[in-house]
Amino acid sequence: MHGGRAVAALARRSRVATLNGHTVLGGLDPGLADRLLQGQQRWLVTGSAGFIGSNLLELLLSAGQTVVSLDNFATGHRRNLELVRASVGEDAWARHRFVEGDIADPAVCAGACQGVDVVLHQAALGSVPRSINDPLATHRANATGFLNILVAAKDAGVRRFVYAASSSTYGDSPALPKVEPVIGRPLSPYAVTKYLNELYADVFGRCYGLATIGLRYFNVFGPRQDPDGAYAAVVPRWTAALLQREPCVINGDGETSRDFCYVANAVQANLRAALVEDEQALGQVYNVAAGQRTTLLQLHEMLASALRAQRPGITIDAPTFADFRAGDVRHSLADIGKARQLLGYEPTHDVRQGMDEAVAWYLAHLTPEAPS
Ligand SMILES: NC(=O)c1ccc[n+]([C@@H]2O[C@H](COP(=O)([O-])OP(=O)(O)OC[C@H]3O[C@@H](n4cnc5c(N)ncnc54)[C@H](O)[C@@H]3O)[C@@H](O)[C@H]2O)c1
Repeated sequence: MHGGRAVAALARRSRVATLNGHTVLGGLDPGLADRLLQGQQRWLVTGSAGFIGSNLLELLLSAGQTVVSLDNFATGHRRNLELVRASVGEDAWARHRFVEGDIADPAVCAGACQGVDVVLHQAALGSVPRSINDPLATHRANATGFLNILVAAKDAGVRRFVYAASSSTYGDSPALPKVEPVIGRPLSPYAVTKYLNELYADVFGRCYGLATIGLRYFNVFGPRQDPDGAYAAVVPRWTAALLQREPCVINGDGETSRDFCYVANAVQANLRAALVEDEQALGQVYNVAAGQRTTLLQLHEMLASALRAQRPGITIDAPTFADFRAGDVRHSLADIGKARQLLGYEPTHDVRQGMDEAVAWYLAHLTPEAPS
């Protein structure tokens, strides 16, 4: 589906609005949405059954793009793909080919990259504690798998390779806010793998001319982030707990802070990285965050107030406290100036706006009568 037809189809969807004659797609600014809608490209999204990957898949298919996506369901879910399908409709879904496979297998990566213009590489095993418990599994997916995708992208001649890096690369550096060149020593096997991604991407730029951009995500949250399992992230874990009338457990004293980033901001950063034409923007890594520091106690209060507003009468218990977690950094806050300047990145959602949207989604999908 090209330009005008795609816009017309998009305008019928709730995630799209029109502003002064421009299309606003999933919170994207009009210029970016128009640029995306104008061109037809073939994209590979890895990790598409996961949280961020499924949000990227949904947006690209909504924007008339052709997408190959890849996942092995290590932590992702088939239901996320089904939710995307229901959201975009059958016509758009027909432009999607799903590959079930493991990025640790070079042949899988080679097959998925065939004919692709842009790679958005999200597949990895997330979680610092998981990597401390099982460093080999993390290395296999995040280091070996990353190198496999990178080689496949290079061999297939892809135009742009955008990948999920991580704020964990700042390690034990106490400097705040975090600026891209000032990093410390990694605090976990996960952080080692994410830093390794940056080193490999840089070298593939130098040795093979591959145009890469790394996005150091800071605590992304939003619809489809998994609330279940030992390694669940804090926002979905706490939301699920409160909906089941269980208290939230705060690791530490509650003053630990993070730069929580709503997923629409992360999606925007990926699209900008994929479409940017300025040569100086390539071969770089960028902080992707809201640029706003929130303590865990403040996060709990924001979540509680979003839940109270959207489900009047809900009872919310005070949080309980447990030990600090090994490998966790104490404070995190991003300087997003580089992404602003070179990519044109501008967050559309602050933490509170993101929390309102995330809570609305969880209320619709996590309550007993809602589809999972
Ligand atoms: N969510 C965050 O706050 C955050 C922060 C920093 C970096 N990141 C990075 O962003 C990316 C996406 O994270 P997410 O939060 O969406 O996590 P997620 O677990 O929801 O998604 C990751 C997806 O990758 C898939 N996957 C894992 N190993 C694979 C393999 N060997 N082969 C194929 N697929 C595989 C999983 O099944 C899952 O669907 C990851 O690279 C993660 O390290 C996320």
